[in-house]
Amino acid sequence: MIRNAVVPVAGLGTRLLPATKSQPKEMLPVAKKPIVQYVVEELARNDIDRLLFVTGRGKHSIENHFDRDPELRASLERAKKQDLLDELAFEGIGLSFMYTRQAQQNGLGDAILYGEPFVGHDPFLVALGDSIIGMNGESDIVRRMSQAYSERQAAAVIAVEEVEIEQTRHYGVVQPDGDGDVFAISDLVEKPNPKDAPSNLAIAGRYVFAPLIFDMLRRVQPDKKGEIQLTDAIRMLCATGRRVVGVKLSKREKRYDIGNFASYYETFAEFALADPQYGAEFRERLKKMLAE
Ligand code: G1P
Repeated sequence: MIRNAVVPVAGLGTRLLPATKSQPKEMLPVAKKPIVQYVVEELARNDIDRLLFVTGRGKHSIENHFDRDPELRASLERAKKQDLLDELAFEGIGLSFMYTRQAQQNGLGDAILYGEPFVGHDPFLVALGDSIIGMNGESDIVRRMSQAYSERQAAAVIAVEEVEIEQTRHYGVVQPDGDGDVFAISDLVEKPNPKDAPSNLAIAGRYVFAPLIFDMLRRVQPDKKGEIQLTDAIRMLCATGRRVVGVKLSKREKRYDIGNFASYYETFAEFALADPQYGAEFRERLKKMLAE
């Protein structure tokens, strides 16, 4: 069972300016909760109990969010606001949180390297802090990946989703060797030109790794922007004959990638419509708005 997760949240989120000028994109709300809370709740449901956030400048609100706030609790208790106290139940989620900072913006691969002292010799999960998987993060993809990791004696397991071929330019894309929902991967390429994409299977923000990935990360050359790409390190695993396995997200495990405003608006609307408390009312208001 995989118990340790490394969650990189150091990115600048420049595609979401001005919203992200002084606030991490992982803290943008999607309906009632900030994005990163869905991610943490998903991991807690999937047996993760130790989590390392790789943060950067301006990311303190993430730490504050997962701390207990005794003053806030006391004031809600005095006011007998049980419904609002219930909204803070996630504070008792039972994970142990750790934080470290990426000293410089040197890419996703570099951020993962900061996890090495945390994970030691155990396999670990990487979950991108800006990607929600499945409505309300109810997916068990991490458990399926963890199973594939031990059954196939893999060095890496990657969650993938089917995307339109035109969209492959925004993602890492894998070359599958075989069919089915769990399959071997023979190569990968980061953000290909769609006409050269090896498939329509995009890397979906959840990875399981053996600690060997750290050696690969130290060996990869920086890309054109000077960044260390995680995809290049996984590619090196393939090239050196290690087993890399893909696990497909199911239809109900849509991935919400909050990378730009169009997908952020869409995600917000979908989650708000599904809110048990306010969803029905929001639907009516939206219908009216669209009819005008
Ligand atoms: C990163 C990875 C990419 C993956 C994507 C998923 O890219 O490098 O392989 O498909 O996350 O969101 P980024 O979105 O950081 O550019």
